Amino acid sequence: MSRIIAFCYDSFMRGPEQACLIDWRRILLSQVGGRVLEIGAGTGASLPLYPNVPGLELVLTEPDVDMRRRLERSVAELPDSNITVLDCPAEALACEDESIDWVFVSLVCCTVVDLPATLAEIWRVLKPGGHLLFLEHVAAEKGTRRRRWQDRVNFIWRRIAGNCHLNRETEAQIRRAGFQIESITRESMRKAMPLARPTIRGVALKPRQAGSKPEETQASSR
Ligand SMILES: C[S@@+](CC[C@H](N)C(=O)[O-])C[C@H]1O[C@@H](n2cnc3c(N)ncnc32)[C@H](O)[C@@H]1O
Repeated sequence: MSRIIAFCYDSFMRGPEQACLIDWRRILLSQVGGRVLEIGAGTGASLPLYPNVPGLELVLTEPDVDMRRRLERSVAELPDSNITVLDCPAEALACEDESIDWVFVSLVCCTVVDLPATLAEIWRVLKPGGHLLFLEHVAAEKGTRRRRWQDRVNFIWRRIAGNCHLNRETEAQIRRAGFQIESITRESMRKAMPLARPTIRGVALKPRQAGSKPEETQASSR
């Protein structure tokens, strides 16, 4: 993501953040504890919303140098926190196998280069019984007018918005990666641009039982 996007990002997102995203983030994050990995943490919009629970350890990843600089500034403002910032991409997480209790992604699955590879990495680093929390804008239902416009505009939007895809079917990809979706809410992101309004948020489980491995991942989806 370019320096300009990093510079404008918080102002661009202020409307949707205040209208709904802050509340959605806070409710999702209220459940976490132990070792938590947030992927593509951006400028740190979720940082103040983590619960103040003993033993919480945060690992944040952000591969974009300009976003990461802002993230590190936000981290530095928090007193007494146990936070590490990594520069690895979601497709190659610098975390050990089965070392994480919770993974959080917000507005990231739309942007990564390879979503199946990202979900395979999340599966790898999560402990059995660990959870993926997601808050993502997604493709509108097939056959709708909004979906047709998402498909039409996607090519251009990706180029001006740091590889953000308007039409990813993220819920289907999460299920395909082997996760069991425990809860999901579909809601419109208020104050966002119309083609990015459909969202999903919820909790997905990496089951404990052996044999629930994800399908073989393939190179890049849409
Ligand atoms: C739309 S922003 C969302 C930022 C933050 N998660 C939030 O909710 O405000 C997308 C973020 O994903 C990051 N990103 C892009 N490609 C990535 C990748 N391959 N792996 C991890 N993060 C990536 C971008 O640098 C950017 O910070």
